[in-house]
Amino acid sequence: MDSILPGRFVRESISEYSEFALPNDANTLGNVLGGKVMHLVDIAAALAAVRHSRCAVVTASVDHMNFLHPIHIGQLIVLRSSVNRVFRTSMEVGVRVEVENLVSGEIRHTSSAYLTFVALDQGGQRRPIPCVIPETADEKRRYEEAGERRAYRLAMRERALEKGR
Ligand SMILES: CC(C)(COP(=O)(O)OP(=O)(O)OC[C@H]1O[C@@H](n2cnc3c(N)ncnc32)[C@H](O)[C@@H]1OP(=O)(O)O)[C@@H](O)C(=O)NCCC(=O)NCCS
Repeated sequence: MDSILPGRFVRESISEYSEFALPNDANTLGNVLGGKVMHLVDIAAALAAVRHSRCAVVTASVDHMNFLHPIHIGQLIVLRSSVNRVFRTSMEVGVRVEVENLVSGEIRHTSSAYLTFVALDQGGQRRPIPCVIPETADEKRRYEEAGERRAYRLAMRERALEKGR
């Protein structure tokens, strides 16, 4: 079920987070570690989630991620995020990762990810989130697709819980 609280527009949650890739982030080949990118994705997504909900959030799940191109040391990693859809106490955030070669100006899309965050009140209890209002055609498409992804995600969660029993 979707949130029934008064809404906020998707554009109000749009966030951008950039980081210059430094040697400390590298694997033995001199490219940025996948785990570093995942860390940045979690931060960038949390920015959009907090901007939308205006409260503390925790990451409930991260959908699978592809790393389409290596990111080299000295390049700029740029992450853009926004809330795709709110359910009740949880919301899906989409993140697009691009890398900019600052010398040539070339920009490449390297990863995209969908994360689910749960909103918490000051006592650490789950709290309802204002619904999100998609305006553009892309925002409406992402909203619809988020519903399909949620069904799959919750089925996977149920399976993981069963294995743990
Ligand atoms: C995420 C967490 C708050 C969910 O709590 P819970 O008691 O299992 O709560 P529920 O089963 O009622 O789920 C709450 C909401 O989260 C959603 N949710 C829970 N697990 C999910 C998952 N794996 N993927 C997507 N949504 C999930 C539920 O669908 C529900 O959404 P809704 O209210 O919008 O319908 C809890 O598991 C937790 O605290 N996990 C650790 C979070 C954390 O520390 N993250 C940092 C990395 S370790």
